[in-house]
Amino acid sequence: MHTQIMDMASPPSGASSEQDGIPVVDLAVLLNGDAGERSQAIRHLGRACQHWGFFMVTNHGVPEALQSAMMDACRELFGLPPEENAEFMDAGPMDPVRVGTGFNSAVDGARYWRDYVKMFAHPELHCPAKPDALRGVAAEYAARTRALLLDLTAAISESLGLHAGRVAERLDLGSCFQILVGNHYPPCAAGPGDDDDGAVGLPAHSDHGLLTLLCQNGVDGLQVKHDGRWLLAKPIPGAFFVIAGDQLEIVSNGRYKGVLHRALVDREQARMSCVSLIGPCLDAVVEPVPELAVPPLGLGLEFRGVKYRDYMEHQQSNKLNDKGALDLVRVQKRPAILYT
Ligand code: OGA
Ligand code: NI
Repeated sequence: MHTQIMDMASPPSGASSEQDGIPVVDLAVLLNGDAGERSQAIRHLGRACQHWGFFMVTNHGVPEALQSAMMDACRELFGLPPEENAEFMDAGPMDPVRVGTGFNSAVDGARYWRDYVKMFAHPELHCPAKPDALRGVAAEYAARTRALLLDLTAAISESLGLHAGRVAERLDLGSCFQILVGNHYPPCAAGPGDDDDGAVGLPAHSDHGLLTLLCQNGVDGLQVKHDGRWLLAKPIPGAFFVIAGDQLEIVSNGRYKGVLHRALVDREQARMSCVSLIGPCLDAVVEPVPELAVPPLGLGLEFRGVKYRDYMEHQQSNKLNDKGALDLVRVQKRPAILYT
């Protein structure tokens, strides 16, 4: 099932490797390793989710040619005359196809140096009619990346001490929501600002979904916040970045964190990224898995239940603001001393 791509995307070593400190997860070991290798890889994955909320996945079986084809189709779309996409430009956050600049130009005044196309891809694929190649490529890319993200979700469920299907069952992932996003960051002489005043492609945020898979065109710019510092993420060729989202933080009762990340622009080169994100079923009310809220695994619920559709609409309708959306569903706890 895994093709020659495996060789291209081999991690430096074994089941618990890292690259510049960023954890590297080998999907082939998670799926096909013997019992000892698997349990080591699952512990490594759990640590990556707990301490980083971010990792790279290798040996994932999604052909590099498909990643490039997806990137090419998005590039072609951004090159079309604006009138071709006019009907998608006024779209709101819950419309299935959106094309625009910035994050949400209705609220951020297109301050960010980014063009994007967002396409709902599951339960049903929606996509612009042009370029011609887009629909076929997006359908294949959505299916392959969704399968990968669901495999990772099962392993993450095990890493929480739950059975492999537990998280999927809580979030009704049989009817999961999936969105594909193409991002294009034109070169900008004012970037990259290490300070936040320079041109920024996309400001600091966590993603609203469960897991996000990201690949890019060879131009770096994705930064993640780790231990209070921004770190530039440099990929292993052929690997995907995986970003933990807000729904993973909620369902895991805060054990795993949705990681803050942002995109910087390059002074000379255009940067592109393709994102495939899965979230719960839009109608699922997302709450922490109860086993993770009671001792010995937890000490009470950290989040109140929220329907994913409402959460996503809120996050997408407002200015991107770190983890502002998640804070709204966080249970406020009184300091322990008040209980004594
Ligand atoms: C996103 C995102 C970062 C990037 O689309 O949510 O974080 O590097 N993109 O394009
Ligand atoms: Ni993001």
